[in-house]
Amino acid sequence: MTVRPEKPQDIAAIYAVNAAAFPTEAEAELVDALRDQGALAVSLVAEHEGQIVGHIAFSPMTMEGADSHLKAIGLAPVAVLPDIQRQGFGGQLVLAGIDACRKLGYDLVFLLGHTEYYPRFGFVPAVPLGYQSVYTEGEGDHPYFMVLPLHEETKMQGGFVRYHPAFDDL
Ligand SMILES: CC(C)(COP(=O)(O)OP(=O)(O)OC[C@H]1O[C@@H](n2cnc3c(N)ncnc32)[C@H](O)[C@@H]1OP(=O)(O)O)[C@@H](O)C(=O)NCCC(=O)NCCS
Repeated sequence: MTVRPEKPQDIAAIYAVNAAAFPTEAEAELVDALRDQGALAVSLVAEHEGQIVGHIAFSPMTMEGADSHLKAIGLAPVAVLPDIQRQGFGGQLVLAGIDACRKLGYDLVFLLGHTEYYPRFGFVPAVPLGYQSVYTEGEGDHPYFMVLPLHEETKMQGGFVRYHPAFDDL
């Protein structure tokens, strides 16, 4: 299995992986919309025996407030073909994606995801650290909204982060 950046000839297979992994085609459409709008900052595929079996996307976020000087990026979506989930492909995509974001100079990765899955990569709940988003309105800790600092020296002071407008249609 190899993880590598997407190529133009992968686009249909990436759509198919996202459509298969999620209940609707909304995430597949989101990836296409991000690409069309130049917001697919990191897009990696997992290739296994000549087939695209997984995909991960990251898109730049805006940050208002104390951390407005930091570069934030959102992880979404990540998908692996249903038949071959739980074999480590997703984990390798997440790790390679984090590495790519770090190399591109991003400071923070945010995501909305399973609270039992992402802590293994270092993600922690973002609300207790002072971060908010349109997904965290209302009471509660919203533990599924998580953040990962990409550099040891990154000082996290909080702020309001927004995904790319393409997410509004999700
Ligand atoms: C999430 C996903 C990308 C993980 O890919 P994967 O190749 O199965 O991941 P890995 O093999 O590296 O890790 C497996 C771990 O993922 C976690 N996991 C996978 N799906 C999960 C789910 N629906 N709920 C909670 N945890 C889940 C489990 O902790 C599992 O560990 P275990 O096998 O020890 O229980 C894949 O399951 C998927 O495509 N799911 C459907 C789409 C989705 O929900 N994407 C994430 C939201 S953007």
